Amino acid sequence: MSSAWLSRLTQSLAEREAQGLLRRLHPRGSRDAELNLADNDYLALSKDSSVTAAAALALQEWGASSSASPLVSGYTTLHEALEKRLAAWHGYGQGLIFNTGYAANAAVLGGLPRPGDLVLADRLVHASMLAGIESSGAKLIRFPHNDLDVLEIKLAEAGNHAGAVFVVTESVYSMDGDSPDLKRLAAMRDRFGFCWVLDEAHATGWHGATGSGLQEEQGVRGAADIVVGTLGKALGSQGAYVLSRESAVREVLINFSGELIYSTYLAPAAAAAGLAAIKRAEEMGSERAALHALSREWRTALGVAGFAVPVGHSPIIPIVLGDAVRTLHFAKKLKDAGIRVSAIRPPTVPAGTGRLRVSLRRGLTSADLEKFIKAMQGAVL
Ligand SMILES: Cc1ncc(COP(=O)(O)O)c(C=O)c1O
Repeated sequence: MSSAWLSRLTQSLAEREAQGLLRRLHPRGSRDAELNLADNDYLALSKDSSVTAAAALALQEWGASSSASPLVSGYTTLHEALEKRLAAWHGYGQGLIFNTGYAANAAVLGGLPRPGDLVLADRLVHASMLAGIESSGAKLIRFPHNDLDVLEIKLAEAGNHAGAVFVVTESVYSMDGDSPDLKRLAAMRDRFGFCWVLDEAHATGWHGATGSGLQEEQGVRGAADIVVGTLGKALGSQGAYVLSRESAVREVLINFSGELIYSTYLAPAAAAAGLAAIKRAEEMGSERAALHALSREWRTALGVAGFAVPVGHSPIIPIVLGDAVRTLHFAKKLKDAGIRVSAIRPPTVPAGTGRLRVSLRRGLTSADLEKFIKAMQGAVL
């Protein structure tokens, strides 16, 4: 006889399946020759020879694991060097490495706001930020996506708020590839005095003269109070980081963040890969204009082929197709044509906005674009 908790589980899965929203894991091989428009390796650094060589060397020197949480013995001189390098790159005084971006966001937003504080968050911020805010006990108000006029009104209304006020945004949104006006946000921060938490996960590497992100590109390097970034996207490694001006932020996270304290720390080889990747990303200064041109070229070609996509120059291009079944149909047709692209469905994105999330990378050719457009046109019902 199955127990009540187990039938609850199977029922929730059956409901998901009936809506066409069931998620499944699909293992891929290491050498599949598909056109890859799915992962976040925007600069193709995960297989860059200097990055893999640095990881291999660290593997030999340190072994495959940090073997302990950071306060025990997992924190190595490699982690220390990496956090200093990241802080200097982005224009901050303090850095702290986390195992994942999810853990970093959950720690920052779960640990810094307190009950009685107010958090104003863009409607589309990442699930990890929401998880943190919800666990903090602070009051959460979400403002319409990238609508800084509404944010300004909310900030004016919060003028007499007794607790601290936090504003939470991303610089390049993970499912939309668009951005807020960071210059205006920086000016609003100076005027209203809130604590600005900015997630640069999808901007680092692709944006900015030295590749540190969108703050650098928009001329407001170091403006946000706290920056969260990841090593697992354009930097081709794994792990994440939190940057701040004040040492108190780093010390509070070290003292109170369960995500950091009670978890085996990032493998030294991942830290070494991150260090090598920053160097490579910095060297790509002159290539970044070509990456932005690539993004514009793909968007224009999609528009000409009849697929409306937003203008922009980030590495993420959303092709909104509507319902989940239609989105899956396109993804399947592309797969049959040897193209890997992710089908994103609710609840990751709002209902009715199922989409293909096209993720660009350095090295894509005009033949790749042609193949993609042809496959998209062939998938139209
Ligand atoms: C905006 C944003 N922040 C944080 C994360 C989490 O980063 P990680 O993959 O390192 O856990 C993601 C991952 O998808 C993301 O899109």
